[in-house]
Amino acid sequence: MLNKNPYNLCVAPMMGHTDIHFRYFLRLISKHAMLYSEMVAVNAILHNKTSRYNKLEHNRDNPVGFQLGGDDPRKLSECAKIIESYGYDEINLNIGCPSKRAQSGNFGACLFSQPEIVAKCVEEISKNTVLPITIKTRLGIDNLNDIKYLKDFINIVSSQGVEVFHLHARIALLKKGINPKHNRSIPEINYERVYKVKRAYPDIKIILNGEINDPNIAVKHLQYVDGVMLGRAVCNNPFILNEIDILINSEQQKNRNEILEKYFSYINANYCKDMKITDFTKHLACLFKGYIGSKHTRAYMCHELNYEKEPLKKLEKLLFEEDLWKDGQGLYSKVV
Ligand SMILES: Cc1cc2nc3c(=O)[nH]c(=O)nc-3n(C[C@H](O)[C@H](O)[C@H](O)COP(=O)(O)O)c2cc1C
Repeated sequence: MLNKNPYNLCVAPMMGHTDIHFRYFLRLISKHAMLYSEMVAVNAILHNKTSRYNKLEHNRDNPVGFQLGGDDPRKLSECAKIIESYGYDEINLNIGCPSKRAQSGNFGACLFSQPEIVAKCVEEISKNTVLPITIKTRLGIDNLNDIKYLKDFINIVSSQGVEVFHLHARIALLKKGINPKHNRSIPEINYERVYKVKRAYPDIKIILNGEINDPNIAVKHLQYVDGVMLGRAVCNNPFILNEIDILINSEQQKNRNEILEKYFSYINANYCKDMKITDFTKHLACLFKGYIGSKHTRAYMCHELNYEKEPLKKLEKLLFEEDLWKDGQGLYSKVV
């Protein structure tokens, strides 16, 4: 049974994480979760020459949304057409990234103060695609930090047909110049404001994001919003998706060794010598957290495996033969 509300469980777009391989791995764990690509800036798509692999490719890991960064309606619209041709289910606009690069390109969180431009972008994109357009943003930026402003933003943007907003439940601090990593922990999270927004917009889907790392708490949030979006918790423990699916999507507990075997087969089928094997294996490094020697093993999965003569054999041994893995399911309960 596929879930009727694809947004009740979402995995946040994360640069360096939610690439084609991680999404494949996550899809083995959850057939329900709505997945998102890493953010890709419009120019990177329109002048796609430098990327090591094509960030648009995907493994039919639907439902999957593609996240775009940009402020030029015409370029965004061109990209949307390309994205649709690749088989994505949704175009998600990034209106939440606080990085200096995003600010200098006038995309990400700084567009929160320019809702008319965002609405124009949505209008142009929708001329070129039938895909739904959704918005990922924050509760505010700098001194635009009240619910009235957030509602004005939603009113203006939803007037162009946006029906889904993913809200990272804290504001972006742009003027203070803190880096994006810090701006994911400060200022304090404010779930209550997201609940209030949902109450004000019964016909718009409001998805709550920010510091959700406990399946039972995720379920509690679902009493007040249409969906939860998890980011870092999934990178730390991808199997949390199965735990939440059990609670909200009537799923059974998945056999974790079987999933690893399938992912290993995928690596076997797709890895070739001019690729970095760590592009596949870095997503497994989290599984070693909390074990003796785990720092070394994680470094091995993220870097050193590339220098092995026969990396696949080494990987197979590490995953399926080392003592570490012999206790099967028990391994994962220790993941933090
Ligand atoms: C490594 C990393 C990369 C991220 N990249 C993106 C991105 O490309 N687009 C985006 O909208 N948010 C990005 N984010 C923010 C997450 O989508 C999410 O909003 C944030 O981490 C808060 O959710 P969490 O507390 O569940 O991690 C990133 C977060 C992390 C940790």
